[in-house]
Amino acid sequence: MDSKWWHKSVVYQVYPRSFQDSNGDGIGDLKGIISKLDYIQELGADIIWLCPVYASPNDDNGYDISNYYQIHPEFGTMEDMDQLISEALKRGIGIMMDIVANHTSDEHPWFIESRSSKENPYRDYYIWRDSADGGPPSDLKSIFSGSAWQFDETTEQYYLHMFSKKQPDLNWHNPSVREAMYDVMRFWIKKGIKGFRFDVIDLIAKELEQGIIDNGPLLHTYLKEMHREVLDGADIVTVGETGGADLEKAILFTSPERKELDMVFSFEHIALDEQKGKQKWDLKQLELSDLKRVLSNWQTGLAGKGWNSLFWSNHDQPRIVSRWGNDQEFRYESATMLASLLHLMRGTPYIYQGEEIGMTNVQFAELDFYRDIETINMYNERSEQGFAHEDIIESIYVKGRDNARTPMQWIAESNAGFTAGEPWIEVNPNYSAINVEHDKNSDKSIFQFYKKLIELRKANDLIVYGDYKLLDSEPEIFAYARTYENEEWRVICNFTDREVESELVCDGEIVIHNYDTPGKKLRPYEGIVYKLKNSL
Ligand code: GLC
Ligand code: CA
Repeated sequence: MDSKWWHKSVVYQVYPRSFQDSNGDGIGDLKGIISKLDYIQELGADIIWLCPVYASPNDDNGYDISNYYQIHPEFGTMEDMDQLISEALKRGIGIMMDIVANHTSDEHPWFIESRSSKENPYRDYYIWRDSADGGPPSDLKSIFSGSAWQFDETTEQYYLHMFSKKQPDLNWHNPSVREAMYDVMRFWIKKGIKGFRFDVIDLIAKELEQGIIDNGPLLHTYLKEMHREVLDGADIVTVGETGGADLEKAILFTSPERKELDMVFSFEHIALDEQKGKQKWDLKQLELSDLKRVLSNWQTGLAGKGWNSLFWSNHDQPRIVSRWGNDQEFRYESATMLASLLHLMRGTPYIYQGEEIGMTNVQFAELDFYRDIETINMYNERSEQGFAHEDIIESIYVKGRDNARTPMQWIAESNAGFTAGEPWIEVNPNYSAINVEHDKNSDKSIFQFYKKLIELRKANDLIVYGDYKLLDSEPEIFAYARTYENEEWRVICNFTDREVESELVCDGEIVIHNYDTPGKKLRPYEGIVYKLKNSL
């Protein structure tokens, strides 16, 4: 496979609303991000995935876009955006824009036109259907609870919204819709951005009459068209959010010769603590054997055929150290163990803001403190269904999206240095102990550990291109080998808070390690990486 610049890249994801506020209105903004570019550069990331900053009524924090060519005034101006792009480039960092192409805001001019009459030229930009038996056209459910259909009085038809009712789905079967979205992309490429992350891109080719929502039969046709029309010749990296993709589908999306996308986000690994066939709120214990199987399958299955994205967290997921690590006694050990496990795999790693200092989940006692529409809708739906407050809140503590959306914790001063005003969502009260300043200067610095992992990736083609092999040893241990030319590395991770013996512990040269010295047994959440002595 030809090598590409982004094979060696590390992506840092910024959730602008919660990263850094520059003007005291309590909302993170572009100037705030610019002021932290040196921080991201110091970490070593070379792409910033910027969650949406476009004009938006903010029903879903920017994933409901009313103008793709404008910056939301809360975030700044187009001049600020240009400055962010150029200041980032000066530091060797490219901006990856988040393209929400499956739906717009209901306040987007296309939708305002579309809903105005059945004859309007924009009518067919969206998905309208007649009522069936006096109710919605079908019993399709929205991902944000309730029906996916909303009745609109003006024309007495229903429109489809897979997310909130303020996020009507676009009709991608209409060539004008596709062309309009390609124009959006061309505009941003011209501005000098270096990548796109495509929001729920596997939903665009739905075939309602056949009951197909994701991975519709024309999906690959559209992606190929998009590549031809927009991406071909532009040296940018693309990643598609394809929650339902299995390995076979991922190969179709990411095989270079198919000219669709460079990589996709699969949810197979992060769904392993959910009950199959139920909602994300219906939890089960993670089995390490499942995680080994799934991640290893992707590692070996995509080798030479496509490219992996590597991620634990994002703005929709709980904090990984709280989820699969230990955010109390072994916060440093488990955060760094999880980081080693992921960052030494083949693929492009993604770090979600705050992950690099081991930020944790948050627990607010009342619904009032929560801002996320998915969380609020679910709470209301389950309350009506008779679930107890305690049970619903408990599932929000574990899976709610606001876990990842509390403000970035910079310093131990008020509001963690995020804002001089009232933050739009409360800061996690643990900020006086967990913050960038404290972490960077600590003997056990998660930030310094991530930085070292990134340096290792930049210096070793073995990490980028080496073969992967699962070393299936003890049930508490996730271990694998990476081999490249004449070298072999061994990554050994203890997933428990106990001491565990492992037959894999050896006496090679230690490449990176989250304890000071090697021991006979693996200590809680120990992660150790060896370069084997007689490599191959
Ligand atoms: C994606 C985004 C999520 C958003 C949804 C609808 O899953 O990551 O934040 O709510 O799409 O746009
Ligand atoms: Ca602000």
